[in-house]
Amino acid sequence: MAISEAQNIRLTRVGPDTPMGDLLRRYWHPIAAEAELLENPIKPVRLLAEDLILYRTSNGEYGLTEPHCPHRRAAFANGYVEPDGIRCSYHGWKFAPDGTCIEQPYEEMASGHTRFRAQICALTYRVEVKAGLVWAYLGPDPAPLIPTWEPFTFEHCFKQIVIHEVDCNWLQCQENSIDPLHFEWLHGNWTPGQNGHREAYSATHVRLGFEPWQYGLCYRRLHEGDDETSLNWRTQRLSMMPNLFAPLHFEWRVPIDDHRTLGIVWMFDRVPAEREPFAQDVIPCWHGRFHDDAGRPLTTHVLHQDVLTWTGQGRIADRTREHLGRSDEGVVMFRKQLEADLKAVAEGKDPSGLIRDPEQNKCIRYPHDMRDAYVKAPSIEALHQRLHRMRQLTPVRDNVFLVAGQPDDIRQQWEYAVALRDTPP
Ligand code: FES
Ligand SMILES: [Fe+2]
Repeated sequence: MAISEAQNIRLTRVGPDTPMGDLLRRYWHPIAAEAELLENPIKPVRLLAEDLILYRTSNGEYGLTEPHCPHRRAAFANGYVEPDGIRCSYHGWKFAPDGTCIEQPYEEMASGHTRFRAQICALTYRVEVKAGLVWAYLGPDPAPLIPTWEPFTFEHCFKQIVIHEVDCNWLQCQENSIDPLHFEWLHGNWTPGQNGHREAYSATHVRLGFEPWQYGLCYRRLHEGDDETSLNWRTQRLSMMPNLFAPLHFEWRVPIDDHRTLGIVWMFDRVPAEREPFAQDVIPCWHGRFHDDAGRPLTTHVLHQDVLTWTGQGRIADRTREHLGRSDEGVVMFRKQLEADLKAVAEGKDPSGLIRDPEQNKCIRYPHDMRDAYVKAPSIEALHQRLHRMRQLTPVRDNVFLVAGQPDDIRQQWEYAVALRDTPP
């Protein structure tokens, strides 16, 4: 059951004035880490095919503005960040985070009035910080709330953020979020498969389960020899609308434009009682490494294998030539939900998964209970056993099974937090 060319275009194009662009603009999207802006207060970003400048004022306020100054179009990327806004470095016009022009140095002196300045405004969008991430909203008012997913509220966790870019359309990345079978073939069997060791293939799946939940879809999977008490059956993986995978860590697939996606990973490890109280001033952020020094793709980590596969599907996968089977039930459900949401937005209604009630947003609980594992401190022994199991997911020894490139300083902080080293770095 392939889809039509028209539907493939409808589901994948994200620019302004496209149906999917309209739909995706109804949600908040993470576009950077707070830690990045603390290090460098101006970050050019491209989101939903719009070029923008994200900045942090020296008072700690965030702005997200059009990239060119309304005067004579100089780049705000080269601007000066001040306590109350960003100043264009060409002739000194200054703009507040809401786009208001708050200074026009020569003009005000020469004319003796501010009427000209009052006519000038830069195009800006909403921006907020939550969970160490900087979020943008490009849609109409009233904006919904940024979801407070349950792990955002967990204390005594070592949290870290990994950012990377993927050279393909967002949809094929997110379709992976509702594709349980790929764990066996793409991840479990990658190393033996590439090396001709078929005898080392991982346990095969015998059952997949898909169901809707309030914020998207979830799936379960059962391996040969396991029963419904197994962790992979009890702890559903969640595909949140429109572009988030959860729950044991988070992966957002944020459309940069039709052909590129910003991958944002948010991870957390509960520290043992011996490290409590544990808090981070700011959640550290690093950039994932996907190529070796010779430019060849790395394939050692789970996300390497995912990204190589997504980009291998083409810049925009040609869904008119697919042959979907039973394992693709979740993909079909996801596309149907997107079509329903496109229709809702076209009719002036909210799409699925939006949160507008602050009470509901105090903490969005998962459909299964993983709370105990994070609220209660694990013993050092249990924690190290779990970390050992995670490390075995990559053929190289690494603290982070998802992706390579963790800087040494963050690695050392993490090792201390999870009691793999005795003294702080
Ligand atoms: S171009 Fe920005 S102040 Fe002149
Ligand atoms: Fe994967």
